[in-house]
Amino acid sequence: IGMSNTSMISEFVLLGLTNTKELAIFFFFIFLLAYASIMAGNLLIVVCITFDSQLHSIPMYLLLGNLSFLDMCLSTITTPKMITDFLREHKTISWWGCMAQMFFLHLLGGTEMTLLVAMAVDRYTAICKPLHYTTIINRRVLLGSVLLSWAVGFVHTMSQMVFTVTLPFCGPNVIDDVFCDLPLVLKLACTETYVLELLVIADSGLLAFICFILLLISYTIILVTVRRRSSGGLSKALSTLSAHITVVTLFFGPCIFIYAWPFSSLSVDKFLSVFYSVVTPLLNPIIYTLRNQEMKAAMSRLRNRHISSRQIF
Ligand SMILES: *[C@@H]1O[C@H](CO)[C@@H](O)[C@H](O)[C@H]1NC(C)=O
Repeated sequence: IGMSNTSMISEFVLLGLTNTKELAIFFFFIFLLAYASIMAGNLLIVVCITFDSQLHSIPMYLLLGNLSFLDMCLSTITTPKMITDFLREHKTISWWGCMAQMFFLHLLGGTEMTLLVAMAVDRYTAICKPLHYTTIINRRVLLGSVLLSWAVGFVHTMSQMVFTVTLPFCGPNVIDDVFCDLPLVLKLACTETYVLELLVIADSGLLAFICFILLLISYTIILVTVRRRSSGGLSKALSTLSAHITVVTLFFGPCIFIYAWPFSSLSVDKFLSVFYSVVTPLLNPIIYTLRNQEMKAAMSRLRNRHISSRQIF
């Protein structure tokens, strides 16, 4: 009420990864390559799953398709801006750009965490309740869990952003990171943000913690079940599981590190942010496609179909 806009800052300055020119150019090419691979790899997964009739009827792949889609979006929120910033002397982001970045980062991050839990529940049902699998995980349940993930992501980001957009920023406006994220932006507000900082820790921390515990429980039950049966399916189950567990560890590791110690001045946070938005989305397609026979088969079916449709003309 009656807030004066005259002294409000309209943009933030991002310090980026480096201020060495040669290193910046090197990073530019590395991250450009990484981003291109993220988009190509995940797009390949989405296209394969969407257009392959066999994969399109398997719940695990529909969830994986959704995960790849999320990864593409998550990476697009931060990486293109980061890449072009490598070539800029003065890296700025508008107030709106910063708020939008934080909104989508937490929307997609929260959605992805919940989706990883849904994927674990799917694997739990397939391995521990194989006889009831098709009745439990049907189309409705699948669509429901995808919608639920988005709902959780939305509530998660809104609960933090409604307070953040009302904060006054009157300078300083320098963020020592490659993109805007809540912990560092809150520190710049020229008002007491202690309660809000606690809310962010509680909110992001709690969501990550709950998801992580749920994942830990479901993977433990699965591993115990798989170990008890000494059938031939053991190695196949283990190879699928190890892919899931790798993704989960790589996703939650940096996340918990950033938010569990969010207000430390460790410069390692910056590298974790990069890891979170570049390395994890890049690893998903590598882990899921190159090591997965069904995905490889679907890719070759897609290629054959493409070739045969070309031969018609
Ligand atoms: C995401 O999940 C929904 C619900 O099961 C499914 O209909 C959709 O095809 C999936 N999207 C992708 C890209 O796989």
